[in-house]
Amino acid sequence: METKLPKGRETSQDHNGAGVSTEKLSRRKFLSYGIGGIATAIFAALAYPLAGYAVSPALRKQEEHWIAIGSIKDFKPGNPKKVDFSFRKHDGWTLVNQKSNVWVVAKGEGEFNIFSPKCTHLGCAYHWDDNQKKFMCPCHGGVFDITGKVLAGPPPRPLEKVSYRVQDGKLTVKGV
Ligand code: FES
Repeated sequence: METKLPKGRETSQDHNGAGVSTEKLSRRKFLSYGIGGIATAIFAALAYPLAGYAVSPALRKQEEHWIAIGSIKDFKPGNPKKVDFSFRKHDGWTLVNQKSNVWVVAKGEGEFNIFSPKCTHLGCAYHWDDNQKKFMCPCHGGVFDITGKVLAGPPPRPLEKVSYRVQDGKLTVKGV
């Protein structure tokens, strides 16, 4: 009994006499494959530069910002000083004005401890208590000495140090 095959298919016999089914590529299918291939190529050609444009901020090397915060003569040993500053940095595609501050502790002879302004417990701003000669965090009672070491409270580690440079008598800090 002869079996009816779908349009575009036909049978033949191999050299062992077994039936083999083949499918002819119709003109319509050929055109649809061709159009699909061209559309894919156009999409890839457009998508590649667009994807590069979209992800390039993420791939951009982390910018370094060195901010001048004063003359080294402005800072006296034993007298921590909070310095506010601002700088411009890239945030994705936009250039934003970033405000920050640090605590500067002069150690003498051009040496400094410069601390991030955030408590190492949960990030609150702390202050220098000149009577007690300690850094005090108002949030949960964290206390640090002038070198940043934890004296009391929940902070798990010393105050975080910020990188600095001294050049031509000027103190610069690394903005983050
Ligand atoms: S945030 Fe400073 S002690 Fe908790």
